[in-house]
Amino acid sequence: MVIVCVYRYAHCSLTLFVKGLTVRISPSELHIDDPEYYEVLYSYSQPRNKYKFYANMFGNPKAAIAILDHSHHRLLRSNMNPYISMQRIRSLEPEIQALVNKLCQRLDEFKNTGVPLTLQHAYTCFTTDVVSDYTMGTGFHYLDEPDFIPDWSDTLSGIAQGSAWFKPVLWLLTLLKALPQGFVKIPNPGMGLMFSFQDCCRVLINSVTESRRTGEEKRQYKHPTFFHDVSASDLPPEEQSAEGLAQEIQVVIGAGAETVAKMPSWTTYYLLENSEKLKRLQEELDRLDPDRNVTLVDFEKLPY
Ligand code: HEM
Repeated sequence: MVIVCVYRYAHCSLTLFVKGLTVRISPSELHIDDPEYYEVLYSYSQPRNKYKFYANMFGNPKAAIAILDHSHHRLLRSNMNPYISMQRIRSLEPEIQALVNKLCQRLDEFKNTGVPLTLQHAYTCFTTDVVSDYTMGTGFHYLDEPDFIPDWSDTLSGIAQGSAWFKPVLWLLTLLKALPQGFVKIPNPGMGLMFSFQDCCRVLINSVTESRRTGEEKRQYKHPTFFHDVSASDLPPEEQSAEGLAQEIQVVIGAGAETVAKMPSWTTYYLLENSEKLKRLQEELDRLDPDRNVTLVDFEKLPY
């Protein structure tokens, strides 16, 4: 019965996506594939609150993504503006480029070895290194792991898939959170990595909070971190609690690592499936960037 339901859920969404329909996919949800409706749904002039049933799935009620009230969400979201500004991204481009080079070098090591490689695992290590360094000023160095730690990628994907269950079965998440860490790690070693990551967040948050209190920076950071942006914002103190920050950072790392790894995984698959498009892309890169050293600004101008 459960299998049939899961199949129907996925199948419905897929049908909708292909045909551009509006389909009821659960008693509380519609799936809409209609680009013209976008402006209505995400209207600037008539903003709407988030929907509790939907927001429940994130399991981080203090993070901006789960805040229902529009003006409260806007307030929390405003502290992320410097963090996601193009200016910040451009200034950190050398660090991101160094990680791209490292990824390419690691992929090269597999050439002619006959060892199968799951690209999504490699891409997830890359995106995690980028987003952890970018957000916390200290990268996780997952690209150094010989097997690209499949457990990490699988855990992030598992959490994303699990969120479909957390919406209707709210207590499931509460139960999972209440279980002892050692118990959760046995069937799912990737959760061990998640717990270490949460510990790492707490240490950093405590250090930044302490520096804010004493006015003395104990740790040196290569560049401003997400925590510094929040501290420098004019959010009221109750919106800058250690717990709220920890939840926000988990959303940012999870959202930044999982989604961005999926994108090149699928792109690679479709390019390999479609040799015409691959050829066209390679020709453009060979012509306009023969030494593979263009910057983000140049990339934005490439026609294809
Ligand atoms: C291909 C890449 C990405 C996709 C497809 C994607 C998709 C989305 C979507 C659909 C939402 C809206 C969720 C909602 O309706 O509440 C969202 C929110 C969010 N994403 Fe992403 N995302 C991507 C990359 C990233 C990256 C790289 C980061 C961080 C470095 C990030 C951080 C966030 C955060 C913090 C929110 C919540 C923002 C808010 O509530 O205002 N995402 N993302």
